[in-house]
Amino acid sequence: MARTRVVIDTDPGVDDAIAILVALASPELDVVALTTVAGNVDLERTTRNARRLVELSGRSDVVVAAGCAAPLAGVAVHASEVHGNDGLGDLEWDEPSVPLAKEHAVEVLRSLIEEEPLTIVAIGPLTNLALLLELYPDVERRVERVVIMGGASFEGNVTPAAEFNIWFDPEAAERVFAAAWPITLMPLDLTHQAMFNDADLAYLRELGSDVGRRCAAMLEPYAAHHDQWYGQRDIIMHDATAVYELIEPGAITTQAVSVTVETGGQYSRGATWINRRRSQVDGRVRVGLSLDNELFVARLRERLATYPTP
Ligand code: BDR
Ligand code: CA
Repeated sequence: MARTRVVIDTDPGVDDAIAILVALASPELDVVALTTVAGNVDLERTTRNARRLVELSGRSDVVVAAGCAAPLAGVAVHASEVHGNDGLGDLEWDEPSVPLAKEHAVEVLRSLIEEEPLTIVAIGPLTNLALLLELYPDVERRVERVVIMGGASFEGNVTPAAEFNIWFDPEAAERVFAAAWPITLMPLDLTHQAMFNDADLAYLRELGSDVGRRCAAMLEPYAAHHDQWYGQRDIIMHDATAVYELIEPGAITTQAVSVTVETGGQYSRGATWINRRRSQVDGRVRVGLSLDNELFVARLRERLATYPTP
């Protein structure tokens, strides 16, 4: 089977954690690095979390490299009320022994792009990718595809207009969407169809593996947050949709669009302007429209069940 070589650019993040653990357990993917960015929590925490996850998965061959600590403009506003103070639901962890790359995430990305075809799965703010484009503009013609979780057509989750990953760094997102690389975007309109419920948490707990137990424990406060926020405990698995797109090609229906980002706006900073008019799209950017949640959940369960029990 031809494996897709990927780097996951991430701000773990509870839903990032599930996405990463699913990716690392998927034979369709060759995950070569996790590059971290500030977002859900600060860079120090997202980077420590990436190292924790690599260690938990037993995949210490995966490079972890730290990237940008702040958005291109403005100040960082994190989401620890959603993901916990540490970004992973505040569980107890041993200090990870997995090393941190000496190079900046952008340099690691650049080297990996030069070596062999690479797909980037971007599930945090897009600051690292914007810096990559600024320093090495040729990458926009070399990267195979960028699969992004971010944005919304109809309703944001930080403001009525803006979704977190884009809202955190709209200037970076504007540059990423303006570049020539092929993009598949998973906006909130799609991710709100991808849910885990209490039965899925129980399933994970009963797997008897460290991964299963930790996933359930991380997701528990996240479910409580959903209850407070949306009035139901079903968990929106935002970031895992980007991985699902790669491990199950065609399972997410997509549409050609063009995307621009609001960087001004009295109320709408960080909004994604997803234009679906056929005459105004060039086929470079596609947006995820729908998925079958039963199939999605079954695939995630299956992959998370492959981790060993003690
Ligand atoms: C996105 O924002 C973060 O809180 C999640 O990890 C996800 O990447 C959803 O809006
Ligand atoms: Ca994320």
